[in-house]
Amino acid sequence: MSAARGSNPVGAPETPKVLGGKLPRIDGPLKVTGRAVYTSDIALPGMLFAIPVRSTIARGRIVSIDANAARKLPGVKAVYHRGNIKAFFRTAPPKGFSGLIDEKRPPFEDDEVRYYGQYVAVAVAQTMEQAKAAADAVRVQYAAAAHNVGKQLGADKPMKVESERGDADKAFASAPVKVDQVYITPTEVHNPIELHATVASWEKGHVTLYETSQAILNHQDVLHQMLGVPVENVRVITHFLGSGFGGKLWPWTHSILAAGVAREVGAPVKLVVSRQSMFEAVGHRPRTQQHFRLGATPEGKLVSLSHEYLNQTSELDDYKEDCGEATPFMYSVPNLRVASALSRGNIGTPTAMRGPGAVPGLFAMESAMDELAIALKMDPIELRKRNEPTQDESNKLPFSSRHLLECMQVGAEKFGWAQRDPAVGAMKRDGLTIGWGVAACSWGAMRSDAQASVEITREGTAIVKTATQDVGTGTYTVLAIIVAEATGIAIDRVDVQLGDTRLPMGPISGGSWVTASVIPAVSNAARDAVKALLGMATSGPNPAFKGAKPEDLQLVDGRVKRKGEASSGVALGDVLARANVRSAIGHGKSATTMGGAESRKYSLHSYGAQFAEVTWHPQTARLRVSRFTSVIDAGRMLNPKPARNQIEGAVVMGIGMALLEESRYDQRYGAPINSNLADYMVSTNADAPPIDVTFLDYPDLVLNEMGARGVGEIGLAGTAAAITAAVYHATGVRVRELPVRIEDLLGA
Ligand code: MOS
Repeated sequence: MSAARGSNPVGAPETPKVLGGKLPRIDGPLKVTGRAVYTSDIALPGMLFAIPVRSTIARGRIVSIDANAARKLPGVKAVYHRGNIKAFFRTAPPKGFSGLIDEKRPPFEDDEVRYYGQYVAVAVAQTMEQAKAAADAVRVQYAAAAHNVGKQLGADKPMKVESERGDADKAFASAPVKVDQVYITPTEVHNPIELHATVASWEKGHVTLYETSQAILNHQDVLHQMLGVPVENVRVITHFLGSGFGGKLWPWTHSILAAGVAREVGAPVKLVVSRQSMFEAVGHRPRTQQHFRLGATPEGKLVSLSHEYLNQTSELDDYKEDCGEATPFMYSVPNLRVASALSRGNIGTPTAMRGPGAVPGLFAMESAMDELAIALKMDPIELRKRNEPTQDESNKLPFSSRHLLECMQVGAEKFGWAQRDPAVGAMKRDGLTIGWGVAACSWGAMRSDAQASVEITREGTAIVKTATQDVGTGTYTVLAIIVAEATGIAIDRVDVQLGDTRLPMGPISGGSWVTASVIPAVSNAARDAVKALLGMATSGPNPAFKGAKPEDLQLVDGRVKRKGEASSGVALGDVLARANVRSAIGHGKSATTMGGAESRKYSLHSYGAQFAEVTWHPQTARLRVSRFTSVIDAGRMLNPKPARNQIEGAVVMGIGMALLEESRYDQRYGAPINSNLADYMVSTNADAPPIDVTFLDYPDLVLNEMGARGVGEIGLAGTAAAITAAVYHATGVRVRELPVRIEDLLGA
């Protein structure tokens, strides 16, 4: 993606206030004018189209596959299945962020079917329509077996304790005030607008994959292992993503199939996953069932907290939804136990979805806290105040930066919380009943390994390279900001190159840690490039600043000047020309905090407070989220504009989670039944209320020199709990199983 050479039609100012300014995304114009090329836009000469054949049973065995009729259809090149394609390999156990894949069984590994929609064959043809017709014409005979896609979860093994202190059971038994409830979150599907897609092209044993990947380097590693070719023979390219929400973090079977099929047919192959398959074969947030028990004194001091939970997973894979992620450190409580187990079903393998673990976990915990506040007849904000910890009680580490109570207080002021009448149904406006609810939230603050290079060119531009990708969150823009900040080169003269495994190692676009991770790497690379440039400016046969020392010079607005002098200095390109070099190149690295020194010394998390207003019209059973206030403590904001977009988008998604979203399985066939965007409802603009976002903006300097954490996920945490608390306040009905349905509220 190039923002350089004046290609940015939005015209970022020549000398913008970069850090903390409000820059529009530099890739925005390419996207809104249709010039951004997404994976499914890729067209290669001679390219064929692949469409998988999806299993129509949820469990059983393939008895036979008859592709004779399919092969005779117009344009059809081949139909592949287990019997006629080179086998794929399994991956070795992952190392760090390499070799990660949630559905570990390679496609066509055996004749077993373990979920509805599992790929059992794949048709290849000259057009997508021909491939679809061929896939539909493949006759597969199954020996079906009884499947389980039921909603009632059951542990496959005894619960495993994740965190424990004191004696939660004993303290609960004697606690004067108690909450003891089960909270359920349904299967949710990521539903990015951009469908998953792969275009695979082989040449002399090397494969190039145009991918929809949030983690190209991991994708490269997995595909190299599964295809059985050297890692350097696999190149993965993802220039733009139409979002992913975690669904595009790790490779799915269609990508392996596309690469395998392209190898067989000897032509480039495009495989675009259908919207229906997006509900079956590319992951989802699994159903969770969480038992929360809170015990407190009449003054509202927690004495016991127990969180036992299950999440659904597939028959073969141990995907764990880490619902207990935030439980151990959120509140001060001497007796705590968090334990979990998996529940297996005949579903596709689940995967990380925006705020994995913490989002369903905080729905349960913050709902339980709201119920406790009601049992205590105490304001829910006051309850949080009385249980604010002074350290992370799970590991006795200090918080690197925690301002949860300030989030609550600022949010209360902005929302007008003091006007709240706590009585159920007591607040009215325009014939509607108003409900107000609040919840706290948290998400981890992490940094991963990253490398980058920055090149200052004769044209006076900077080129920054790292093998991360922009999932749509503003990574192109934030990299340009970091380079502009470190070099003094105007932001529209910074060319950001991402999304290609040939670039220096970059982070996955996940965990809300891209920005935090690339800051040290890119800043170091930029400083290294500046150092190289200033060396050229001061030494060699014909330096621009003869006799000067590098430390006497600085870069301002694309020129090198002596510090403290009013002269306009020398243009960067002229410095390089005088030295007779093409460019000044710098390299930089960041090291991960995960398992690193910082995570042994500090508890690293972001925090926030979510305030929801709902309106309820009992006569028509109409429920709406009418107003939302989100106050986020996620370190320093490098670019508040896209950061605000992230929180707003997450709140809209949270409204969907609270009121609309659920992937439902047909019990007879085991198929996700609402597998389209008409029947699986997500909230849209029409559902979005005014959303007031505030960032506290306290730099977290433990994480990096700019004090930035990340904002991709935290806006979804706590949001559904704030909404169901507001629903209770309006209606007196506590909904503990999402989404809230009209049926839950009838009679209220
Ligand atoms: Mo996020 S679920 O780590 O893409």
